Amino acid sequence: MTVIHAATGSNLKDEVERMAISVFQHKALRNDFYDRWTTRSLPAEEVRVFAIEYLSRTIRTSEMVALSVVNTVDRTARVECVKNLFSEYGGGNPEKVHLTLLENFLTDLLGRVSGRPVTIDELYREPPLTSTRSFSSGQRELFTSGDQRVVQGALLAQEWLAYSMMVRLYEGVRNYKSYYSSEEEFHERCEYFYVHIGEAEKEHRIQAVESASQVCADLTDLARVQVGFDGFLDLTVEYWRGVVARMREAGAPARGLETRAHAAAVPAARVR
Ligand SMILES: [Fe+2]
Ligand SMILES: [Fe+2]
Repeated sequence: MTVIHAATGSNLKDEVERMAISVFQHKALRNDFYDRWTTRSLPAEEVRVFAIEYLSRTIRTSEMVALSVVNTVDRTARVECVKNLFSEYGGGNPEKVHLTLLENFLTDLLGRVSGRPVTIDELYREPPLTSTRSFSSGQRELFTSGDQRVVQGALLAQEWLAYSMMVRLYEGVRNYKSYYSSEEEFHERCEYFYVHIGEAEKEHRIQAVESASQVCADLTDLARVQVGFDGFLDLTVEYWRGVVARMREAGAPARGLETRAHAAAVPAARVR
């Protein structure tokens, strides 16, 4: 006999939460990109790849939240998405728009690591990788789905990945502290991370559980949320795979120079 669990509102919310925390075990968070980014200070060429691809991906993030407002019919769920969108746009303060904070951070960091000023136009002019474009088009498809449950599943994945992503990206950024003149200067420049780690993404996670639960009345609904959720995670895996592969390629000549310089410095007897 098939046991069908009684799908009450509260146990469906538990299921949504269980789905959400599954991101911690997923390759979307446990992957070569994060290993590389968090464990060393990379050459300018690799930081530049990260900046271009992350920027291209992130411009879409707030657009996707806007689409989740439009493409979610349930009014209470929509209210949660509006709160998220308002926070993405700086809570009404143009200087605190998250994308603006990110642009400032990336141009500043890359300028320091490259040893020359870097403008945001210069970064936007670079075409993103095909894998980043596939991520963006796949993401748009999920967030414009005619099925609000799929939209909410994608939003749930996006927001639950975001907090952990911010934490890991920030841990990686700490590897570049020596490029700043003081601890104070470093922390002043990291506002993009602090707004997310300190509050925004924590709130978004709660809001996304609320809104996804609102569109779940039974197990069929939950399965549709899972479709959007899994879809977003799979896109993310491929996105980071593309980024880290391109970073390795871009950093290879710089690493080659380092190896040659090192070999030249080692006495001939030891090289043999
Ligand atoms: Fe944000
Ligand atoms: Fe968010």
